[in-house]
Formats: sequence, C-alpha cells, structure tokens
Amino acid sequence: MKVAPSIIAANFAAFQEEIKKIERAKADLLHLDVMDGVFVPNLTFGPMVVEAINSVTGMELDAHLMITRPDNYIKQFLDAGADWISFHCEATEKTEVCIEFIQTRKRKAGLAINPSTPFGRIERYVERLDYLLIMTVNPGFYGQKFMAEVLSKVQEARDYIDDHRLQCILEVDGGINFANVCSVKDAGADIIVAGAGVFKQDDYAEAIERLRCSKV
Ligand code: DX5
Ligand code: ZN
Repeated sequence: MKVAPSIIAANFAAFQEEIKKIERAKADLLHLDVMDGVFVPNLTFGPMVVEAINSVTGMELDAHLMITRPDNYIKQFLDAGADWISFHCEATEKTEVCIEFIQTRKRKAGLAINPSTPFGRIERYVERLDYLLIMTVNPGFYGQKFMAEVLSKVQEARDYIDDHRLQCILEVDGGINFANVCSVKDAGADIIVAGAGVFKQDDYAEAIERLRCSKV
C-alpha cells in the first residue's frame, strides 16, 4: 500500500526541510490539503505554495482541494505543478468538466467524498476517475479521530471497482494511524493519507513503513 503524508501536519516554519525529510523517508506522494475557509472551516494555502513546493521536490504532488467551485481554480493548480488533483463532489455541479479538464492536461483526476455522502452519489463517475478519495474524517483539520463507520463505504467502492474491472485507484484520508491502518488496507485502500500519523512521529521513514501495513 502506498503512503501519502499530508504536509498540513508538518512544521510550517521549516517547510523546505520537512519536504526534504519526507522525500528521504520514501513517501510515495506528497498530499497537499488546500482549504478555503468556506467549504471547510479552516484555511491553508493555494497554488502559489504548491508551485513553491514543486520547485524544491521531485515527489509527485497530490492536491486535495477542499474548496467551493473547484472548477474556477483547477487550472491554477495544474499550472502550479500538481500531478494529482482531487476535488469534492459536494462542492461543484461540474464534476465531469473538472475531471475532463484535469485529464486533458495528462494529470490524475480524483473525486473526494465526505463521510456522510453515500457512495451512490458518485458511483456513475468512477469509471472515468483516476482515483477516488474517501474521507474518514470531516475535512478541515488534521489530527481528528478516524471514523471507522466509513470503512463499509471503502469496501463498497473497492467491490464496485473490482466488479466492473475499473482502473480507479482508491485513496483513503483522515485519522489514519498505526492502530487502524490495517483495517483500511483490508477494506481495499490502495493509498492512505496520513498527517499526524507521519509528521507527528519522531522517525518519518519508520512511520511510513509501518503505515504500509505490509504484514509478512
Ligand atoms: C482533512 C485532510 C486530511 C488530514 C490528514 O481535512 O484532508 O488530509 O488533514 O491528517 P490526519 O492523518 O492527521 O487526519
Ligand atoms: Zn486530505
């Protein structure tokens, strides 16, 4: 299983150092939580910071847009160098337009879904998606408690992808730690995001390795 540490839990006063450390610790992707203070009750950063991060790392950048009207901003995140871009199904009526726009630029298009939104709401898009991002906390803050009740939706998405022989990658995000990560893997995740689960640990490389949940 791949691990995407979320920079939101890093020490922002030592940003570049944190990025280098996480790269050396063999993160598979760097997850970037973009929040607008409207779709979620918190603010983080926008495309300028994504561009700055892109200039100091070779890691693939996974931008998770928790913003209203993502269709208005996707171009800026593409230009900033995001390799993966997910936006929330709850935030736009233009899901197809957004997916197509990202894919036309040969980047990975993802659709994110909140804990309370049923899988049925996004089922029809899955065949066109490069990835699906299932939230296991209400988006807005790192370090929240994992919502185990969402695991059945992860399993439902996994079954749908497999039954229809689709390519869609399944990413799970929110509250994932050493204690629950194997249940997320068992439910069918391909990639897990971890903020506090990596950046609040002493040894990033060891944390990432443990979060792969590679039982022998
Ligand atoms: C929640 C974000 C997550 C989260 C990850 O709004 O999308 O990426 O911050 O951090 P942890 O793993 O600490 O929940
Ligand atoms: Zn996220």
